[in-house]
Amino acid sequence: TPRIFSGIKPSGGLTLGNYLGAIKRFVEMQDGEHETIYCVVDLHAITVWQDPAALPGMTREVAAGYLAAGVDPDRSILFNQARVGAHAELAWLFNTVARMGWMNRMTQWKEKAGKNAEKQSLGLFAYPSLMAADILLYHATHVPVGEDQKQHVELTRDIAAKFNHDYGCEFFPMTEPLIDGPGMRIMNLRDGTKKMSKSGESDMERINMLDDADTIAKKFKKARTDPAPLPETVEGLAERPEARNLVEIYAALSNTTPEAVIAEHAGAGWGTFKPALADLAVEKLAPISAEMARLMGDPAEIDRIMAKGADRAREIADPILARTTEIMGLLR
Ligand code: TYM
Repeated sequence: TPRIFSGIKPSGGLTLGNYLGAIKRFVEMQDGEHETIYCVVDLHAITVWQDPAALPGMTREVAAGYLAAGVDPDRSILFNQARVGAHAELAWLFNTVARMGWMNRMTQWKEKAGKNAEKQSLGLFAYPSLMAADILLYHATHVPVGEDQKQHVELTRDIAAKFNHDYGCEFFPMTEPLIDGPGMRIMNLRDGTKKMSKSGESDMERINMLDDADTIAKKFKKARTDPAPLPETVEGLAERPEARNLVEIYAALSNTTPEAVIAEHAGAGWGTFKPALADLAVEKLAPISAEMARLMGDPAEIDRIMAKGADRAREIADPILARTTEIMGLLR
């Protein structure tokens, strides 16, 4: 059976980008004929500095986001990465398979390291190797992610292929990224050429899953746009990144397509479209943020769910790690 794996870093509050590009789809995928495994990737978060006093709360917040949106801990395996030691172990083995040049070509590494590569942690450089371990530890066949993670999933395939080739086996699968529909690349509300991210400088550039209704309305109202009204067809959005982004958000939130949104709102001015978008976002997010807040009031319950998920994850992961070490000739 197909097996889905995906993860989210607890490196800041969850955004609308995380919701539309990831969590919303994770929930939908539980309904199909596949196993679903969802992780809070705390070992990835610490590749840049995290305050140890704040990290547990952020890890629980991401877990609460999954649960509040509808990830069901009985149907899916939900856990945090640090609880399953095999992730770090397989990542080490993959560090001996992956090549420096592959890591050097990663656009996220280039963006994050900038001109300061020498000052970055070795973990940030090897980040994709740990991500490949996350995925391949479960022999996951499909990985739902936003557009920004596509290159990392392709690198996962490169690592699997080189391992299989070097050790003369067909052990690791060629995992497919699942990136489709609107919402796979939500942009910053102040600059339609940049991605909406947890860690952007200004809070006005993103919608957080925990924002209240007034904040959401204010952020959409202040969102940058050009002055022209919505076009008559989607082609008219081509050179208008901010307008295109708001239409995409509307389409993703209402489970339709940009074409359908334009058909309904052709010629509308921002004074009409932005409040409609804000209302829609509040309608979808308010119940989730209320449930997140409730769940975060009981951290022990979140920890219990993640610990139980980790037990189930280990049952799949440990035999795959054991077989990997055996293939590589390591005595254990
Ligand atoms: P992270 O924590 O940055 O983001 C989590 C998920 O949200 C998606 N996403 C977006 N989608 C659309 N528009 C946006 N603006 C936007 N911002 C974020 C991301 O694409 C991702 O799907 N490296 C990963 C975490 C990871 C992982 C894995 C993912 C670690 N191991 C194994 C899949 C499988 C990351 O940093 O995601």
